[in-house]
Amino acid sequence: MRQKLIALAALALLPVGLAHAQQADAPAGPTVNGRQFTPPYYVFSPDIPADIVTQNVGAIGLQVYVDNMAWDSFVALNWPAPNPIVERGVPDRENVIGGFTYTTEGGKKTMPTGPVVWETYKDSDDIYLDPPVKPAPFDAAERIPPQCLIQAKENPAAARRTLVRTAKISDVLIGGDKQSDGNRLVDQNGQNVWYEVKLNRVYYDYVVTNKFYDSRNQSGAKIAFPASSNTTDRSATVKVKAAWKVLGGSGSRQPDDATRFYTTDALVFDPATKRCEARKLGLVGLHVVIKTDQLPQWLWATFEQVDNAPTQGQTIPTGAKYNFFNPSCTGCKVNQPPATGSNTPTQVMRVIPLDDVAASKSTIYQTALKTLRPDNVWQYYRLVNAQWAGKGVPIGTPTQPPFLANTTLETYMQSPQQPNGCINCHGKFAGSKDLDFQLFDAYPRKSKQLLDLFRVPGATAMKP
Ligand code: HEC
Repeated sequence: MRQKLIALAALALLPVGLAHAQQADAPAGPTVNGRQFTPPYYVFSPDIPADIVTQNVGAIGLQVYVDNMAWDSFVALNWPAPNPIVERGVPDRENVIGGFTYTTEGGKKTMPTGPVVWETYKDSDDIYLDPPVKPAPFDAAERIPPQCLIQAKENPAAARRTLVRTAKISDVLIGGDKQSDGNRLVDQNGQNVWYEVKLNRVYYDYVVTNKFYDSRNQSGAKIAFPASSNTTDRSATVKVKAAWKVLGGSGSRQPDDATRFYTTDALVFDPATKRCEARKLGLVGLHVVIKTDQLPQWLWATFEQVDNAPTQGQTIPTGAKYNFFNPSCTGCKVNQPPATGSNTPTQVMRVIPLDDVAASKSTIYQTALKTLRPDNVWQYYRLVNAQWAGKGVPIGTPTQPPFLANTTLETYMQSPQQPNGCINCHGKFAGSKDLDFQLFDAYPRKSKQLLDLFRVPGATAMKP
């Protein structure tokens, strides 16, 4: 309870930089074996934790610490960055997650909610170029596809970034496969969900220093991305994969309540229709992957907006509204990819129920986020779970939990079977690349080879 009080007391003074005060005062935890829980504390800090706080509590008892690290990282990554961005990946320490509110003589003021730190990371598409040449410096502006130049001029706010992926895997894996279009996720308004992969400076520096943006330099190399630890000042490699939905306006079939989403303006370029449009997007899914000393197969934390989809077998509350589920469509096939070119909404359900430990962590953070400001958009996000593997564990074998999926990012691979699950799949197919799939994007590419790995015998659509 003491930790909570400290956090709350500090909160009343200033909502930034609490982590340090709070952590310094935190008593060292007891060394006990077996399942236990930590006090309900939370941290609001723009700094990603260097590692989990380890205690001798066994694999299951450790999960709460991993969940804490997951949520603390989520807070740090969704911390607003200064706008305009000077240096990528740097938080605005004068602000707070969700946007600091304050009262002046002129009335109530609110600092910007975003762009947030991870959004300022480097887009994967700006690192792996064809032909493989050294990418532009980390802080250079994002490339805008030529098809979007007019829209970029007309919509400077949206031009900050362009989203080009409607499938959850890039063209490296889907190239030439006509069925791959079925990998899309379509919301209740018939709109595609858009995906992007963002990489931090440590990732960028590692790839550039080793010239791994050229696939020929990867052959035979021992690939090991830098990890952070509690005992060194090394920074971690951080990777984020996000899923965004187009926010439906008042005229749409199912208008969205924009106050329940973290939103951004962006240009979306559809490779299928070759059209570029400025859109207001709402964040629906976020993968956070961080390499630390204690988590040599990375931390795999995944978050979702709370209205995405119900869980199979649950009673649907009357009047419930979901981003990717229509309660009145009883005959709709569940978790089926759309036919090529079809914009019929995908009927999505969660297959594995939400984890209790992760859910109670989310409640703590959601409540705390609301304390910062009652309309904090981040209170509408939750941790699905965080997967990890301890030291010395064979590659591709998670310690906890055995499987993990996000309804917006692994919609069609939620069942607990191989190779579903983050570490399971990344370890199995990208084990020689330190579980990183982006390295497969490097040119010259061998996309067909990897695609074949994913093809499930007899399946019409590819699995991932
Ligand atoms: C069945 C395979 C599979 C599963 C399961 C899977 N992924 Fe991935 N993941 C991929 C592929 C393939 C890519 C590359 C996609 C691309 O570049 O377009 C990828 C990309 C990523 C990236 C971008 C960085 C990278 O390594 O390429 C992150 C982050 C990520 N996945 C996180 C997760 C998390 C978290 C989970 C579990 C909740 C998960 N993945 C489950 C196959 C999988």
